[in-house]
Amino acid sequence: MNLKKTLSVALAALFLMACNGKQAVQINNVHKNGVVVTAHFLSSEVGSDILKQGGNAFDAAVAVQFALAVVYPRAGNIAGGGFAVIRTAKGESESLDFREKAPKAASERMYLDANGNVIEGLSQTGHLAVGVPGSVDGMVKLHQKYGSLGWEKLVQPAINLAKNGVTLTKLEAEKLNAYRERINQANAGKTNCCYIKDADFITGELIKNPELENVLIRIKNQGRNGFYEGETAELIISEMQRGKGLISKEDLKEYQAVWRPALIGKYRNCKIISMPPPSSGGIALMQLLNGAEKFNMGQYQFGSLEHIHLMVELERRVYADRATWLGDPDYCSVPKDKLLSDEYLTNRYSNIAMNSKSNSQDIKAGNVEVIESFETTHFSIVDKWGNAVSVTTTLNGNYGSKVIVEGGGFFLNNEMDDFSIKSGIPNQFGLVGGKANAIEPEKRMLSSMTPTIIEKNGKLFMVTGSPGGSTIITSVFQNIINAVEFKMNAQECVNAPRIHSQWLPDKVYAETGAISPVVKKELQNLGHIIQEQSRIGMMANISVNPKGQYIGAADTLRHADSKAIGY
Ligand code: DON
Repeated sequence: MNLKKTLSVALAALFLMACNGKQAVQINNVHKNGVVVTAHFLSSEVGSDILKQGGNAFDAAVAVQFALAVVYPRAGNIAGGGFAVIRTAKGESESLDFREKAPKAASERMYLDANGNVIEGLSQTGHLAVGVPGSVDGMVKLHQKYGSLGWEKLVQPAINLAKNGVTLTKLEAEKLNAYRERINQANAGKTNCCYIKDADFITGELIKNPELENVLIRIKNQGRNGFYEGETAELIISEMQRGKGLISKEDLKEYQAVWRPALIGKYRNCKIISMPPPSSGGIALMQLLNGAEKFNMGQYQFGSLEHIHLMVELERRVYADRATWLGDPDYCSVPKDKLLSDEYLTNRYSNIAMNSKSNSQDIKAGNVEVIESFETTHFSIVDKWGNAVSVTTTLNGNYGSKVIVEGGGFFLNNEMDDFSIKSGIPNQFGLVGGKANAIEPEKRMLSSMTPTIIEKNGKLFMVTGSPGGSTIITSVFQNIINAVEFKMNAQECVNAPRIHSQWLPDKVYAETGAISPVVKKELQNLGHIIQEQSRIGMMANISVNPKGQYIGAADTLRHADSKAIGY
């Protein structure tokens, strides 16, 4: 089937779902021993091979993170960051924060001109946009604490992929072509890199990356020192000097990923295990779920006026809190307990009316649209012992800052744009912020990434997460509601059409077909402004059925390369 046809079949399915409430999807991806769901079939294969070799879910996660850096360079990374939420077979949970940090030389006004105006693009493209990378130290720490196989074994598959080459899929070729000019511009003068080309990338083309292969060999042999010190660090520092970037030798040497207690919440008979600050994801998700329970969201039909209106009204309030209160907990005090207290939320939601829309209008903010984007990537893994890991990792924008480390063959992130670069000015996802998320040296920028694990009646129930910038939180929220309230299976949750709203701009984004014409009219009558968007989020789900079997569900409707592989 060609792409156009596939898409129209998919959209028709989504529309049917919106009209009928839910479309049943037969589950066939059922496994006993473990499942790996990632955005690229090759990284899913790498992860499942590690499981088959006797590795645990955490071993597989390390191997997948490195493999994604080769096969999915727009978001997979060694020079980005991310979060892992884990739940061991014993039921213990923890989270790992390998988020990037601002360089020591960063300052609050670094993206503003002398008049205090934002210099267009400076926080998004080029060397100044780069935060100190966290992914390699994150993987080292994950492996040290929970890994069972040797480190070398986990980095080797990525080395093989870089050495032997990756055949470009249609989606990857299209994405590289869409960004080719920008990548070339940001890397003017460099020639020896597989991502710098004068001609179009072609589906089926074999991309070998010998520079990245060498970096990965150093990481394999030297662990974190293979990246943060020695030859790779020197390449990064030379790159910074070439483009007047701020990352110093000390920044690299001192970077440390941090173990943090996972954020734990409750939703009906489920325990929700998610990411604490510096992600806003966990707190926002718990706030939304609290509202869904208070209003008994499940009483409404899926896709009905009430269901969508209620989600939007909750989201408006939660994203307003995000903008004001959330930031790196090591630098500002996040009033987490207050934001999650039932008393606070009862009051916060007390003015939600089912028959009228509230307005976000008196709050100052820019008017940036939500961008359709999959530049982050999420993977979910479970193993035969019952260990589970949920990882969201990113360069932020597609191919991050677009800057490739010369001689290293890898992209640098543009995570600095996740800071509030000026109070009230929206970032690339339309998110605004203030003091709590202002730039400070060595501070972590606020994130929306929401890797999450759900327990039901004390047992592992679901591992989930998504890319999508500001839409991550609402995608994960809908996924949980769909599973718990609308009794959808793992694949139905992934396939279900999604909407998104985030306080500012005061709009409801809806996937094509997510809202039926009748409900659309009803929402408009209440004053909601609806904007169609072709895709929101890209879930990677694993659920556990009553027999204790794993069901892997990839979002192939929205991203054909993604795959769930189990055994
Ligand atoms: O941490 C964050 O919230 C963003 N840097 C995530 C970026 C993202 O999800 C991009 N796209 N799909």
